[in-house]
Amino acid sequence: MHLSGSLSSWTTCLSVLSALSATFAPAVAVKEHDFKKCHQSGFCARNRAFADHALAASSWESPYNLLADAGSFKDGQYHGVILKTINDAGETVRLPITISFLESGTARVTVDEEKRQKGDIELRHNSKARKERYNEAEKWVIVGGLALDKQAKVEHEDKTQLAVKYGPSSRFEAVIRFSPFGIDFKRDGHSHVKLNEQGLLNVEHWRPKVEKPAEPDKEDEAAGAGNDDDESKEAGKEQPPGKEDESTWWDESFGGNTDTKPRGPESVALDISFVGYEHVFGIPSHAGPLALKQTRGGDGGYQEPYRMYNADVFEYILDSPMTLYGSIPFMQAHRKGSSVGVFWLNAAETWVDITKAKDAKNPMALGVKSNVSTRTHWMSESGLLDVFVFLGPTPQDLTARFAELTGTTAMPQEFAIGYHQCRWNYISEEDVKDVDRKMDKFKMPYDVIWLDIEYSDDKKYFLFDKHSFPNPLDMHKHLESHGRKLVTINDPHIKNVDGYPVAQELRSKGLAVRNKDGNIFDGWCWPGSSNWIDGFSPAAREWWASLFRYDKFHGTAENTFIWNDMNEPSVFNGPETTMPKDNLHHGEWEHRDVHNLYGMTFHSATYDALRSRKPGEKRRPFVLTRAFFAGSQRAAAMWTGDNQAEWGHLAASVPMVLSQGISGFPFSGADVGGFFGNPDKDLLARWYQAGAFSPFFRAHAHIDARRREPYLHGEPYTTIIAAALRLRYSLLPSWYTAFRHAHLDGSPIIKPMFYTHPSEEAGLTVDDQFFVGTTGLLVKPVVDKDKTSADVWIPDGEAYYDYFTYDVIPTAPGKNVTLDAPLDKIPVLMRGGHVFARRDVPRRSSALMKWDDYTLVVAASRDPKTPAEGDLYVDDGDSYDFEQGQYIHRRFVFDPAAKTLSSADYEGRDPAAVQEGEWMKKMRAVGVAKVVIVGAPAEWAGKKTATVESEGKTWEVQVEFTPAAKGRAAFAVVKKLGVKIGADWKVVF
Ligand SMILES: *[C@@H]1O[C@H](CO)[C@@H](O)[C@H](O)[C@H]1NC(C)=O
Ligand SMILES: *[C@@H]1O[C@H](CO)[C@@H](O)[C@H](O)[C@H]1NC(C)=O
Repeated sequence: MHLSGSLSSWTTCLSVLSALSATFAPAVAVKEHDFKKCHQSGFCARNRAFADHALAASSWESPYNLLADAGSFKDGQYHGVILKTINDAGETVRLPITISFLESGTARVTVDEEKRQKGDIELRHNSKARKERYNEAEKWVIVGGLALDKQAKVEHEDKTQLAVKYGPSSRFEAVIRFSPFGIDFKRDGHSHVKLNEQGLLNVEHWRPKVEKPAEPDKEDEAAGAGNDDDESKEAGKEQPPGKEDESTWWDESFGGNTDTKPRGPESVALDISFVGYEHVFGIPSHAGPLALKQTRGGDGGYQEPYRMYNADVFEYILDSPMTLYGSIPFMQAHRKGSSVGVFWLNAAETWVDITKAKDAKNPMALGVKSNVSTRTHWMSESGLLDVFVFLGPTPQDLTARFAELTGTTAMPQEFAIGYHQCRWNYISEEDVKDVDRKMDKFKMPYDVIWLDIEYSDDKKYFLFDKHSFPNPLDMHKHLESHGRKLVTINDPHIKNVDGYPVAQELRSKGLAVRNKDGNIFDGWCWPGSSNWIDGFSPAAREWWASLFRYDKFHGTAENTFIWNDMNEPSVFNGPETTMPKDNLHHGEWEHRDVHNLYGMTFHSATYDALRSRKPGEKRRPFVLTRAFFAGSQRAAAMWTGDNQAEWGHLAASVPMVLSQGISGFPFSGADVGGFFGNPDKDLLARWYQAGAFSPFFRAHAHIDARRREPYLHGEPYTTIIAAALRLRYSLLPSWYTAFRHAHLDGSPIIKPMFYTHPSEEAGLTVDDQFFVGTTGLLVKPVVDKDKTSADVWIPDGEAYYDYFTYDVIPTAPGKNVTLDAPLDKIPVLMRGGHVFARRDVPRRSSALMKWDDYTLVVAASRDPKTPAEGDLYVDDGDSYDFEQGQYIHRRFVFDPAAKTLSSADYEGRDPAAVQEGEWMKKMRAVGVAKVVIVGAPAEWAGKKTATVESEGKTWEVQVEFTPAAKGRAAFAVVKKLGVKIGADWKVVF
């Protein structure tokens, strides 16, 4: 129990709050039955049935043919028409197709439907929805990389196919087959990705509803589908082979909600084969292993496809393809030495089936041991079929190409990579200040304290509760005095109540999401009856931005930042806890079309809002979001949602965060301690240790969970947790550098083995350990109860040193090594050949470390001729001045042969060319306090001094050499180098 002077007052308040929240909160424990299985989602069932039929038929031929005569190729783009044969009479519908070959070497295939494109269809129920297939996902997601490859050229054309060479050095080729339509993407003459290889392409064309005499039995069945798990009723299975199941074409019910589907069936589906690739990755977020499992049974496989339909699945279950809070439909396939991928740009509900098969046609894919291929089947409810194909060949190529299209991680506020202290809820200003003081008392650094929904006046966001938070600006000042920040929650549901100006404006200005009849949609969320801001409306976004001005959102200050929760959106009384699909957004698009984008429109509106709080203020925002889509990385950090205080959830968080990283959205983390429930002390300690190595590091707890601030647990826990926090803070310079790389090229911040060692087949599926940025730090969090050792898989023959003791770890490449890992130890190894930066003086917050000198750690390579290299990026951590060159980015090289350690500009910039602003001038006072060379050459025994050269001067420094002993590496320490961090310098040993 947390003790404070105001104990009695706040406990009273707390119990009132819990009682209140209990009436609103959905019951705790995910109800799988609240969320659809494939057979309960009409289009998923129909497409699976279509696949079953196609794959079972002895002579299945896809009814999609590219009209050879209608095609034209010019300037890197092919335009044509696919004819879909829709009946035995040979009637067809026209599906315009564009195949774009981009300068980057990425190819894009876009299929539309002519009749809907022209608006030549009838909507049912007097619907006001748009008639076209949704074609604006690109507008929200794609920010570049679409320049066409004018060098792409038709290499070969005959009656059956068209072959286009494209990409860097024309290494790539797309062989477009006319009949049935399909594309074989090749690299260096070998197939890697095939579209419609299995003939599962399916574009549900528009058709008028033919009224038939009512079939009462059928309708009952559809209405009951929501509670029906009976596999035998799976749509399609009852149909005679080849006959389409119409039962879910025109409306569909689930859990008591009926979707009116004014446009009828309109799904798009396609099979994508990864030829010779046994493993596929990505399509976060799911709580399961990094390497995706098969989804139609098989060895350890799931029965359900992976689903992407952003939803509030609190207390989610582990090892499941169930949807979670956010979606990035980007999938990668990796095998020894080769990586390829696809990005399925569609924001509607999407399912992906994955199967693996020995590929007889590809008996030995170029030096690959296994010749298993992975086949995937993508199904989206509506919108265009729009797929990007990446041919690698490296994992870095995939993340960089994806980043060109969807953008990179915004450079964060530096505080945002420190430690965040959150719970639902810090209930008063006194509570906040008390936690703040206790963190200091126990010498636990932190940067941000968070206020969940209870800070607000009765869930009316933008208004602080006057009783618990009468003087929020005082609280801000208190925090700011030691460089700390406050985050408040602002959700997209706006309490529908009189006398609340935000709600009144939302309604009167017509900025809210509307229901199918065009009236303002009303649903249930934390505040009770609520309306939702329509993030797709430019006017709504502008209005939202105005609400965050300091003179509008009273009680906020420059150190207030924002958390966007519940933005899937979560609607307690809606189908699957979200919005009805026939709701309408700006532009009369149905919610069905844009569901997975909604959260991103909201958090990016908040991001824009924080950039315009005060005229002239140019500071980087910090926004945390729960829902996300491809592109969210440009504006937010994410967390993995409402997990549980259980060991399994700690373990699951590692592959989940790794998956985010390879999918372009690396600023991610899981609630430390677990949101629901009460972690035992060992679990909490281990979670802090893992959290310290997560890009986003925040502790959070449910309102019913016991207080668990990190200082409450007694020894040895206080010491263990404080050590984890301080380790995070000492390594902040290296974390920030990793964010710089993510910002530049989309690389992950923590990296799985396949990313750093793509040629090591055995490491492809390892997902419980990772490297941090470019530091060479190899981390294996302990995630099992009572476990006091860790098996670390060693990817190569480099030297590995224990981070804390400098012990040389006896390793063998491709083998596990078992490390001692008692509760107070985080298994962290330093890989030889790297240099990384730290700040070793512990302080209360990152802001207070801003002008501290650096420590550089060199982990010498096993090979005496191989240099160790690393880098450090620093800027003011707050403004956009770095875009004007106001940053320091150093490259360090330790050359054991030349006996030198040197520092040079990372990009080779001429220092004279950079006009130094205020921050850079101040940085002239910041230097290198210490260099540690772990694995220093034995010949250095007896070495007492080294020579430093910098800025035209030369001087001597003391060297302390400690010889190797009892498994510990030799190491050398140089203190007080007397060099500036921003200057060129060289130490000659
Ligand atoms: C590759 O596939 C062929 C045909 O299925 C099979 O005969 C062969 O043994 C496979 N090779 C490997 C290395 O698995
Ligand atoms: C290495 O350890 C992991 C557990 O972290 C285990 O799953 C794997 O099978 C081990 N590999 C070998 C080669 O022993």
